[in-house]
Amino acid sequence: MSSVHDLNQPVVLDLGSGLTKGGYAGTPDPSVVIGTLTGHAKLQRVLPSATAAPDMPGTPDGSRGKYGEATSSGGSVFVGEQLRNMCGVLRLEHAMQRGMVTDWSGAEEIWRHVSTDLLSVAHGEHPFLVTENALNARWNRERMGEFFFESLNAPSLCVAVPGVLSLYASGRTSGLVVDVGDTLTTTMAVADGHVDVHAMRRSEVGGRDVTERLGTLLQKSGVSLMGTSSEREAVRRVKERLCYIAEDAREEERRFIDEGVGGGKLGASFRLPDGNVLQVGTERFRAGEIVFRPHLMGAEVDGVAQSVHSCTQAVDMHLRRALYGSVLLSGGSTLLRGFCTRLLREVRALAPSNCKIRIHAPTDRLYSAFTGGSVLACLSTTFRSMAVSRSEYFEHGAGVLHHKCL
Ligand SMILES: Nc1ncnc2c1ncn2[C@@H]1O[C@H](COP(=O)(O)OP(=O)(O)OP(=O)(O)O)[C@@H](O)[C@H]1O
Ligand SMILES: [Mg+2]
Repeated sequence: MSSVHDLNQPVVLDLGSGLTKGGYAGTPDPSVVIGTLTGHAKLQRVLPSATAAPDMPGTPDGSRGKYGEATSSGGSVFVGEQLRNMCGVLRLEHAMQRGMVTDWSGAEEIWRHVSTDLLSVAHGEHPFLVTENALNARWNRERMGEFFFESLNAPSLCVAVPGVLSLYASGRTSGLVVDVGDTLTTTMAVADGHVDVHAMRRSEVGGRDVTERLGTLLQKSGVSLMGTSSEREAVRRVKERLCYIAEDAREEERRFIDEGVGGGKLGASFRLPDGNVLQVGTERFRAGEIVFRPHLMGAEVDGVAQSVHSCTQAVDMHLRRALYGSVLLSGGSTLLRGFCTRLLREVRALAPSNCKIRIHAPTDRLYSAFTGGSVLACLSTTFRSMAVSRSEYFEHGAGVLHHKCL
């Protein structure tokens, strides 16, 4: 049974391991994007004007401050904008890993902050469409449902796979989606709106691993930047600004050698927050190499091109040609420069020679899952048929979330 609140504008949240993106249905881009991170004070507060630290309990009712500072757990947990403002005095922790929540109180605080504080969603009045990565353990979705129905009082909830939403955003109903996010690479084949679950490939490699590897490579060059969480964040920014995927890693090594010490014009520099200038050489392309060759970080999983190939080979042979001709990139880590060219080259080498390979790389692919969710949630009849209503949830339990949603 639907409630009057089901008619209100749905709220769309793309709950990524790295970034939480949110906004109201109907907007093409998320109006809120924050890291899926929590900050914990690592220094002791000595001035009364300073923001509350763990030794000084916050508001007596356990409510949140201006920046999503939660005090319900006794100590202060910071989320959102405050992480940037208090950079250096907070220890940052990820609330999600490999698409699954690893710190529930942290994740819930982030989701609450986005919905209530930043999007001003009135309690219990707006349906939610949220994303969950494919092939997650069932309990992850059930616990998510508990939060949205029982803490946020959602009148209805729809859970969708981000890759499928990215396909919607591109205006297609068929294609092979390659989603490389912060901690996961997912490859899925969709034909006329039907996902082939058996052909889906998921590997635990993503942008966070690229950042880690960049940090390790820089350390080998004598620059230690992975000691604190704010240093790690600086390494992430270096990655986003300077790293790229080489078309051929061996050839790229040779080019750097030819250029001499520091890689000559192939090297680049980055000004760190302390004013020091960091020189980056071969690390620029070596770090991202793990997305194509995960064995470099010790992972026994296929690289992204091999995943595309094996996903295609796992679907019916009548559909394969069309899929090779309609590969869609999604997720922030596909923004590494050169990603598309390298993928094309490797997939071409693996695919049957008479297959035409076409890769679509929309410029807004960091947010395409949100955009697709925003479009879907505006189709009120479709959305309502896919969403689980509050009454269904309380009547049948959290298991109902596995039956109705994408
Ligand atoms: N311009 C860029 N170049 C390289 N990497 C980028 C760029 N912009 C964002 N990223 C990386 O993309 C990742 C975040 O992408 P995205 O938001 O798609 O992941 P997520 O949905 O949070 O994670 P997951 O899908 O793994 O749960 C981060 O690792 C970030 O560093
Ligand atoms: Mg994602």
